[in-house]
Amino acid sequence: MAYNFLIKSQQLKNPLILAPLAGYSDLPFRLLCRQYGAALCYTEMISCHGLVYNKEKTLQMTQTVPEERPVSLQLFGADPDMMGKAAAIVTEMPIDIIDINMGCPVKKVVKKGAGAALMKNRNLAAAIIRQVCNNSSLPVTIKIRTGWSHDSIVATDFAKMAEDNGASGIAVHGRTWSQGFGGEVDWQTIRKVKNSVAIPVIGNGDISTYQEAVACLEMSGCDGVMIGRGALGNPWVFSESGTPATLAERMEGLARHLHLIQKYSNPDTILARIKNHAGRYFKGVTGGSAMRRQIYAASSFEALMELTYSLNP
Ligand SMILES: Cc1cc2nc3c(=O)[nH]c(=O)nc-3n(C[C@H](O)[C@H](O)[C@H](O)COP(=O)(O)O)c2cc1C
Repeated sequence: MAYNFLIKSQQLKNPLILAPLAGYSDLPFRLLCRQYGAALCYTEMISCHGLVYNKEKTLQMTQTVPEERPVSLQLFGADPDMMGKAAAIVTEMPIDIIDINMGCPVKKVVKKGAGAALMKNRNLAAAIIRQVCNNSSLPVTIKIRTGWSHDSIVATDFAKMAEDNGASGIAVHGRTWSQGFGGEVDWQTIRKVKNSVAIPVIGNGDISTYQEAVACLEMSGCDGVMIGRGALGNPWVFSESGTPATLAERMEGLARHLHLIQKYSNPDTILARIKNHAGRYFKGVTGGSAMRRQIYAASSFEALMELTYSLNP
């Protein structure tokens, strides 16, 4: 892709970005997406409390390696002080950007005032942004939705508030909280956000091919686009050549992914998570559903590797 952009001091080599995906955007998958062309990947959302209280599981989620940089770590929480403390901890890590989750619709997150609930509480959101910026030298971005429901589309004002309080970039998922992950993506509002602030804006929602990414960039005028579900089992979404058509070529991508998992994690402890990734490589390909069945039946990581090599020696 011909053009690049800056998030504060952080140069991105192209406008294609992997979205934060809880349960999926771990180090191996981020590295894979970087290899296929993504300019930047976000971690899964990471609890500020988990970081401040040094929780083992949370710390594991901060794992990174030099090859994947730049990388953005996404924090979630609703307490400005805790978010500030977490930001100070992240600043000491090999991380390039801190993102604040202001779009997650999940009940247990929203109930605590975090994620998308912050779009209903602008003063608290502003305090969180300020506190994170005051405790970190890193660029700070936020990820939002268009609003809470169709009768409260607040993204443009919210974006201005974020810019005024120190944010260096904004990703907008073009849906409201009440839409969840379905219904139409509102690229018009994303475009309005882009036109209302001077900081970079990243558009997000339902992009599933490289060509759609290019079209959304052009239509919205955004600096970047973020791809979530469209990248699962499909790291080729970041490459101009696109998703390969044959089972064998898809297997090649999965084999690369499994190698990264083997290198950077303890595969047998996360077999279910690995199968969730692996099963997605064969959408719309001849022989795909039989392969998916074999993947879900595999009893170990070794068995998964063997299956992959049976087609991809
Ligand atoms: C399984 C799953 C996990 C997600 N986890 C996060 C997350 O941790 N933080 C976040 O801001 N958004 C999260 N999202 C939302 C995505 O980042 C993205 O905004 C949304 O899926 C729309 O983009 P897409 O249509 O390209 O998937 C998640 C979405 C899915 C489907």
